[in-house]
Amino acid sequence: MRIVTVLGTRPQLIKEAALQPVLRLRHDEFVIDTGQHYDDALAGAFFGELGLAPPDLSLGLGGGGHSDQTGRMLIALEPILVERRPDIVLVIGDTNSTLAGALAAVKLKVPVAHVEAGLRAHDLGIPEEVNRLVADHLSHWLFAPTPTAVGNLGREGIAEGVHLVGDLMRDLAAQIAPAVCDPGPALHAAGRALAQAGAADVAGMLRPGGYLFATIHRASNREREAMLAWATILTTASRERPLILALHPGTRAALADEGVTLGPNVHVVEPLGYRTSLTLQLHAAAVLTDSGGVQRESAWLGTPCLLLRPNTEWVEALEGAGGTIVCVGLDVDRVSVELARLAPVGGSEALAAERARSLDLAPDGAAEAIGTVLA
Ligand code: UD1
Ligand code: UDP
Repeated sequence: MRIVTVLGTRPQLIKEAALQPVLRLRHDEFVIDTGQHYDDALAGAFFGELGLAPPDLSLGLGGGGHSDQTGRMLIALEPILVERRPDIVLVIGDTNSTLAGALAAVKLKVPVAHVEAGLRAHDLGIPEEVNRLVADHLSHWLFAPTPTAVGNLGREGIAEGVHLVGDLMRDLAAQIAPAVCDPGPALHAAGRALAQAGAADVAGMLRPGGYLFATIHRASNREREAMLAWATILTTASRERPLILALHPGTRAALADEGVTLGPNVHVVEPLGYRTSLTLQLHAAAVLTDSGGVQRESAWLGTPCLLLRPNTEWVEALEGAGGTIVCVGLDVDRVSVELARLAPVGGSEALAAERARSLDLAPDGAAEAIGTVLA
């Protein structure tokens, strides 16, 4: 099949890294990078690190408001799809690039394959919820990562074309995790990466179970009240051990615009490479995040994870983690209670060592399943 894949953000590049080698065994793939993410640390660096082929076309369409960005992508995609005449347009996840790819294809009567179909937080205030709803209802093939996602689609009257294939992110995590299990070399390499990114002081803080790791980037967490709340959470959590915050540049800019500050033991670093991110999650005392990908990775690695959101579309990750992932929203008291329960100071070192020693992460085989269905 002639497939045009439309992507543009960090998590899409990470998922594509699991999908691409398998997809290209059977199909002719042409990748369009919308450029929604354009900073090297959020986009370009992943091509080299994860062995992705360079995009066949880069549109450079990042920035701007949601409709503006999506509109520019639609305008740019139409003539390209007309010229290339693919059999399938493949979109991943729930970003504005996903929405634009699906809409542009459907308007040209090109069937759409949606990877990560069926996820719902049941909250239309989340921009991603709108994107995935539209993409799902326009798609011919719906590749669901979880049984809950299949059920969500069924409740919306979508049964045809739905395939439960598992999670591409799990496949990649299962590939890389064995190489970062040994805390000595793994944290040494992570330290080198941090030093190269200008955070040599933070590199010295990496002791297994001795630090907290955090990421924040959701649109709702860039609003002033939310930023004040999570800044208090991170500052409070960091009183007893250093907290490393790998911060999305959009969140960093929002913090600066609103003059919101973080405590001295919150160490803000640039977005990190995939392997460094996985390493820092595995060997942390606990992870604090609003990321869809990071919460799942923490669940698979067994690292305690506090979800700085009121809800999640990744129901199985939460349930399967046996209580080590908790949706705490932006409640500072709950964070303190859960951290004391899941990652007690003085006890986290032994927990982290045992977790790394016993890690055995099986892949889902999502890429193979997708490639087979499309063939
Ligand atoms: C997007 C996705 C979100 C996904 C996240 C992954 C949408 C609606 N959101 O959120 O689902 O979880 O990517 O990280 O598609 N910016 C930079 N450098 C960049 C990219 C963005 O500084 O390379 C800044 C810009 O000011 C931009 C803001 O971040 O306006 C938001 O970027 P955008 O791509 O719209 O959304 P994300 O928050 O990255
Ligand atoms: N990630 C990364 N570097 C970082 C933070 C996260 O490589 O500094 C990885 C993380 O390990 C996961 C993915 O990015 O694989 C999650 O993407 P993101 O949080 O941007 O988006 P979401 O999953 O919320 O859509």
